[in-house]
Amino acid sequence: MDITELILDDHHEQRRLFAILEQIDRMETGALSAIWARLAAFLELHAQAEEEIFYPALLQAGIAARRAAGVEDETLDAIHDHNEIRDAIAEVARHQVGTDDWYAAVAAANLANSDHMAEEEREGLTDFRRLTGLPRRHQLAVAFAAYEARNYAGVRPVDKDPLGYVRATEKKLRTAPSGSLSVGSMKRN
Ligand SMILES: [Fe+2]
Ligand SMILES: [Fe+2]
Repeated sequence: MDITELILDDHHEQRRLFAILEQIDRMETGALSAIWARLAAFLELHAQAEEEIFYPALLQAGIAARRAAGVEDETLDAIHDHNEIRDAIAEVARHQVGTDDWYAAVAAANLANSDHMAEEEREGLTDFRRLTGLPRRHQLAVAFAAYEARNYAGVRPVDKDPLGYVRATEKKLRTAPSGSLSVGSMKRN
């Protein structure tokens, strides 16, 4: 397994669920509600799993390769984007399912998520493959899959300060024994 492949698989599932929503008649509010609820919970869980497991590992690998500035920028961007996606998801809940406003809010969430996924795939995932070997990516894939399985019902959405997140993660990396961050050990900040 490879954590970058699992993240790509999740992105595909997100694109698929947005596409399904677009093909359901607006009168079928029960189906729209159920699929949006599933997608919203999945988007939150995916972002949280990345913040717990992928981005700490990206920072660690970049710092070890003396490329701290590059991975810090990518992580700051990602946390900022995750906040935007969380806020867009919250906005959907303010509208009645199947109305024009509801569709507009779903479209805004789709746009925020699409932009973020494209950047994450082009930058963070690509850099991580260059910086790490397959055994490490397999180890992290196990942690990522287990995190999503344990929290399959969803996680509480909490916006994070991007700089605070990077600083807290780097502090944890510095204090971890032999420089290895135990995966999934990040706490919310
Ligand atoms: Fe992400
Ligand atoms: Fe992602």
